[in-house]
Amino acid sequence: MTLKTIFLAGGAALAFTFAAAAQMQFSHTVEGTPLDLSFAPEEGRDTEAVKAFLQTGVNQYNEQPDALKEGEELYLTACSGCHGHVAEGKLGPGLNDSYWTYPKNETDKGLFETIYGGAQGMMGPQYGHLNLDEMLKVMAWTRHLFTGDPSEAVWLTREQRQSFKPYGSEGG
Ligand code: HEC
Repeated sequence: MTLKTIFLAGGAALAFTFAAAAQMQFSHTVEGTPLDLSFAPEEGRDTEAVKAFLQTGVNQYNEQPDALKEGEELYLTACSGCHGHVAEGKLGPGLNDSYWTYPKNETDKGLFETIYGGAQGMMGPQYGHLNLDEMLKVMAWTRHLFTGDPSEAVWLTREQRQSFKPYGSEGG
């Protein structure tokens, strides 16, 4: 190996590591094509929660009381007309159980991709209605509405799963 190849290989590895640390790749739920996050409104792009989410796919707002409160309001404005008041399903499918048309929605990365980029028919991309920070709050509220077995709430941390009460079971 010449010095030049060593240098190039090292540089490529470094660039790769940086890209991986900087941001995950997000793809459209139906098409599988890369999502362009630059369509998101400027506002709400650089909150701590958004920065962490774009790097890790972990939603820090899950089960955070303040975020849930905002998320509920946003959900009632942006989603409930189609998905029902408590995500029981209406024009769009229910979002409060373990059944998903698109199985990736059981991860927060997948759920974000579906909300940001849309799916089929009436489920259009939501970046015109919500900024990235608001999407994470809507997601946290949607997760809070889960009525299934807490052990299936894979989006929660282990500790959160232990204390999670299915929505409606004990005052929600
Ligand atoms: C105009 C009606 C409409 C609105 C508003 C809407 N949705 Fe949907 N949504 C749908 C329909 C219809 C589908 C089914 C699309 C499909 O199967 O591809 C869907 C699918 C979904 C799915 C995939 C469910 C699965 O089983 O995999 C998720 C997640 C979702 N919507 C979340 C949301 C959230 C969160 C909001 C609010 C930010 C929202 N939607 C707003 C109509 C809507």
